[in-house]
Amino acid sequence: MSLQSLPDDFLWGVATSAQQIEGAFDEAGRGESIWDRFARAPGNIADRSDAKIACDHYHRWRDDFDLLKWLGVGAYRFSISWSRVLPDGSGAANPAGLDFYDALVDGLLALGIQPFVTLNHWDLPQALQERGGWTSRATVDAFAHYVDAVSRRLGDRVGHWATHNEPWCMAHLGYEKGVHAPGLRVPSASLRVAHHLLLSHGRAVEVLRRNAAGAEIGIVLILTSVHPASDSQADRDAARHLDGSFNRWYLDPLYRGRYPEDAVADRVRLGHLASPDLPFVKPGDLEVIATPTDFLGVNYYSRSVVKSGPAAAPIAVQVVSDDELTAMGWEVYPQGLREALERVKRDYAPARIYLTENGAAFPDEPGPSAHLADVRRVDYLRSHVAAAQQAISLGVPLHGYFVWSLMDNFEWGQGFSKRFGLFHVDYSTQRRTPRESAFWYRDRVSAGAVGSAVRQHHTRRQP
Ligand code: FCB
Repeated sequence: MSLQSLPDDFLWGVATSAQQIEGAFDEAGRGESIWDRFARAPGNIADRSDAKIACDHYHRWRDDFDLLKWLGVGAYRFSISWSRVLPDGSGAANPAGLDFYDALVDGLLALGIQPFVTLNHWDLPQALQERGGWTSRATVDAFAHYVDAVSRRLGDRVGHWATHNEPWCMAHLGYEKGVHAPGLRVPSASLRVAHHLLLSHGRAVEVLRRNAAGAEIGIVLILTSVHPASDSQADRDAARHLDGSFNRWYLDPLYRGRYPEDAVADRVRLGHLASPDLPFVKPGDLEVIATPTDFLGVNYYSRSVVKSGPAAAPIAVQVVSDDELTAMGWEVYPQGLREALERVKRDYAPARIYLTENGAAFPDEPGPSAHLADVRRVDYLRSHVAAAQQAISLGVPLHGYFVWSLMDNFEWGQGFSKRFGLFHVDYSTQRRTPRESAFWYRDRVSAGAVGSAVRQHHTRRQP
């Protein structure tokens, strides 16, 4: 299809998050985050790194904004470090923390780039973790307090706000699998955590409506398209199960004001819940969670193929050879993006959708300027942009696409070993160098909504 069919207001952007790029972990009053603490414990980060310096974006943001300008993007999705703003998680805001984000917002606006702010991209202040973290209902109030402090300061200039990034990852990977901060392995706690995240989202929407009148407000979910490994009843049930715990556990409360009954029953069967009554849900909570929003942010990386395992729980099945997977071990499956978007439109009908993350890590190619010839990343992005366009042609209200990520960064439990950037980062010098994919995306962005084809020959001028 031609590019003409993109909505006029379609935003091309790139995404990052505070913990993954900023560094300056103890500067200007910043408090410790759960990821700072998690990275200190041996064995938690694959390459034994931490995010104390990361991309040093805290000091280099002006140069990094030159990269945004060079790419020509219309929007930049970044997150605010909660513990930079509220080092202890409560009380008065740290003025230097707010000043930093104030400068970022003004810097973007001066370049004509729309700031797309995520309030919680996983980096809870450690001080709040010590009071129970997201298992404690008091953290819901702490989040509303933090969102109030940030939006009072930035609400006059930021037009897009996302409350949380991927509550599934925080709840499941952080509290059930223990592979993300805070590193707990308590399945029943993860359901409580998911509920508090959702509840705090609803509370934050109310705060943002007050402090950022006219802004678009939403939440970012990671979604996957779930396929059964075979047509057997058991495998189809495993697919239903995964869809329930991964996608619908979040979409149903947000858009229907209830948790999915079948997924609750699965948790009872697995012994994660004593009964289908969810003890952490208080009267009125679900109404707050279902407070209307303006957009749904969707992060999409891959599909899931599952078969039925012990206790009928879903088990992931790899259907392509190892060398076809990304460096994260994820299958490249662009149709899954179209499927996930169509499904969301059909079953939940959000007013607007932004694809708030999409991208891939690949091992660097061998050869002289090895890390720059990222043919596989270009293919990944090209095929996913095409799938997004197909979804639009099928009526999905998609209004923006953000590449994960602007540059290589601290990839959580994988440390610096996995690289997602359009720009390669040399961590010893902090030099950023555009990969082939940066040139490709730059051309794609400049073709915008009106061009008829993506230019075949990249302009080789460096940023
Ligand atoms: C997403 C996260 C993002 C990044 C990508 C690869 O789940 O939101 O921070 O780590 O995965």
